[in-house]
Amino acid sequence: MDSAICGGRSVTTDDPWYSDAWTPTEGVRASPRRLAQWLQQGGRVSDRLFDRWLRRDSRVVSGTYWTPLDVATRVSQWLHRHNTRSVVDIGSGAGKFCVAAALTCDCEFTGVEHRPHLVETARELALRFDVHHRVRFLEGTFGRDPLPEAEAYYVFNPFRENLERTERQLDNSVCLNESRYATEVQQLTTFLGGAPARTLFIEYGGFGGHVPASYELLHSERHAPCLLRCWRKAEHAQLAPNRVHSYARRG
Ligand SMILES: C[S@@+](CC[C@H](N)C(=O)[O-])C[C@H]1O[C@@H](n2cnc3c(N)ncnc32)[C@H](O)[C@@H]1O
Repeated sequence: MDSAICGGRSVTTDDPWYSDAWTPTEGVRASPRRLAQWLQQGGRVSDRLFDRWLRRDSRVVSGTYWTPLDVATRVSQWLHRHNTRSVVDIGSGAGKFCVAAALTCDCEFTGVEHRPHLVETARELALRFDVHHRVRFLEGTFGRDPLPEAEAYYVFNPFRENLERTERQLDNSVCLNESRYATEVQQLTTFLGGAPARTLFIEYGGFGGHVPASYELLHSERHAPCLLRCWRKAEHAQLAPNRVHSYARRG
């Protein structure tokens, strides 16, 4: 017997809720439609159930590299509260953040990712969860390719991998190093400094740099093991665009 968390209660494979969500040959396997319904009803779905719909190579690294479901659903509540219509995930990986958040809000999501095979995986995930009309994934490198315009930008510490030992990196399909890290962190700070007033910036686990002082902190919550923060660029933010919030903000 296996169990999942749904609607604040634990459900098992004996539960009638679960009866059409698995088959004896596949084991516990809630369909994407069923998982989406649970999330939309405010239920808590375990990451393990959601991750079954990722390709195996992406599934095994999910706990380290992809946004947890409770973070994605919290972000979608904030997006809804701030009437946000478009979001770009900078470094979208296997698409978990964009797809999971799209299940619980009406925004349009664009994921930008420099690994082509992850772009493929992410498109597949959006199709499986039937959100592909609102969620798209582009192959691109932040800092080299222009970012699509959006009302909000999301990051889950995308550049940190540059500092990891080779065996802890996702794969060797892109060139990673410390100097790239420093450059991209600086480029993101500059990008945020130049973004239009009222742009939202949401970071999970930070990005290695400081958010410009022209942003005000709207929400801050710890979702173990990282800090989730939502910032908004002030209406009249043209002064000193290069000043930054100076306190340590590492996730
Ligand atoms: C920690 S994962 C987060 C994935 C996704 N945002 C999520 O939360 O599920 C960071 C991703 O950013 C990608 N990435 C890192 N640097 C990038 C860059 N400069 N341009 C595009 N993608 C990048 C990595 O390949 C990786 O897939």
